[in-house]
Amino acid sequence: MANELLIKNIIKKNIVDQEATIRGWVRSVRKKKSFSFIVINDGSNVNGLQIVADAGIDGYEEASIMLAGTSVSITGKLVKSMGKGQTVEMHANGIKIIGSCDETYPLQKKKTSLEFLREKAHLRSRTNTFGAVMRVRHALSFATHEFFNNRDFYYLHTPIITGSDCEGAGEMFKVTTLDLLNVPKDDKGAVDFSNDYFGMSTNLTVSGQLEAETYAMGLGKVYTFGPTFRAENSNTPRHISEFWMIEPEVAFYDLDDVTTLAEEYLKYLISYVLEKNIEDIEFLQSTYQNDLVSVLEKVRSSDFVRISYTEALDILQKAQNDGHKFDFNVSWGSDIQTEHERYLAEKHFEGPVVVTDYPKEIKPFYMKQNEDGKTVRAMDILVPGIGEIMGGSQRECDYNLLKNRILEMGQNLDDYWWYLELRKYGSVPHSGFGLGFERVIMYITGMSNIRDTIAFPRSPKNAGF
Ligand code: 4AD
Ligand code: MG
Repeated sequence: MANELLIKNIIKKNIVDQEATIRGWVRSVRKKKSFSFIVINDGSNVNGLQIVADAGIDGYEEASIMLAGTSVSITGKLVKSMGKGQTVEMHANGIKIIGSCDETYPLQKKKTSLEFLREKAHLRSRTNTFGAVMRVRHALSFATHEFFNNRDFYYLHTPIITGSDCEGAGEMFKVTTLDLLNVPKDDKGAVDFSNDYFGMSTNLTVSGQLEAETYAMGLGKVYTFGPTFRAENSNTPRHISEFWMIEPEVAFYDLDDVTTLAEEYLKYLISYVLEKNIEDIEFLQSTYQNDLVSVLEKVRSSDFVRISYTEALDILQKAQNDGHKFDFNVSWGSDIQTEHERYLAEKHFEGPVVVTDYPKEIKPFYMKQNEDGKTVRAMDILVPGIGEIMGGSQRECDYNLLKNRILEMGQNLDDYWWYLELRKYGSVPHSGFGLGFERVIMYITGMSNIRDTIAFPRSPKNAGF
């Protein structure tokens, strides 16, 4: 379409003294005596464009009384704005209503809460907050591919349907075509999956890691970026049942190497957004009254502290002895809860912190065992406001140690035969991590609920859109 311009480009390039057509949704109309001010948003930026429409132009009668939410196509001349709050505005010479909107439109001028907008998930993309968050989400996806591509990683698509449970937590959604009213059973009374679609028990993947490892053993450096599914019953502001994860996996890397990669990746994402989406970030900062920009700038130029689980426990126990109240007691061997993660990142280190070498009992079977027999080469990156944002490890690459660990953890060896064979044919040390995409969006946009970082969140009892 000739002369069609996006509002963000008009503003960015300061395009004036030019005819243009813009199409979008009306945010507000202010009717004066002989003209109207119309603000239109086309999804490309926060503020939209101010239109000055004189009485008498084509379509004026209907346009001057149209309601917020109406979709329009407006043609006119872009001019330097003399008003406050914008550099460019449009003097319209014709307005065409494309789709009218009535007063039942839920997004009225009065401030709508984020909770309310979750009920209107089909319309919330038209608000400034979701416009900003989703533009940042897009930028972070793009930055992810750029970061790994620049470093010679190959983007790998791993399967969504799998037979294995990577994290060993058993929190999986079953995939089946069996008739639920007439489930075939074997002679022991268990479900007979040989009659199921795949001839075996299958589920939605909780992680692409195991498959990524196989390709790292051939291509060297790979990463996945896809949806993952967890049927854990966690109704928290940090958990969703369907989330996107980025999982790099690198042959010949040890835990330190992969931790450095993780740190550089997180800083790259922050730098990218501060450069490309600063208007969105500043809008979110002023709307939710935080100090997002300075926090992100600080993280971008800081070195992440690295401590062991044992050192982390010392810090937490000291805090407890000094009177800090945790809901969960800390003692060596217990999992670090979100409240502990946040204490470390927010109170103690006031920034991201990497915790390594966790007790093997609280980590999955695939992590490399340390010589102490008690801990594994794991690392979690904890950040203020969220807690764990990334988790990774050096992988166990010794055939027998891995086999024994699978058995010890009560998992089924048959499910992992191909994974074990990687340790038999040219095994090498290798490491990787997973970044929860919605968690990093939370961190970078400052949104406090993960459900506001993905178009249509899935959580227990919630899949309505
Ligand atoms: O720590 P997790 O479970 O690690 C893995 O899945 C490994 N296979 C990763 C790897 O080494 N390749 O999950 C990784 C990250 C977490 O740090 C967190 O950010 C995110 O995924 N995550 C969730 N995000 C949203 N909702 C949930 N229910 C999440 N569970 C994990
Ligand atoms: Mg984890």
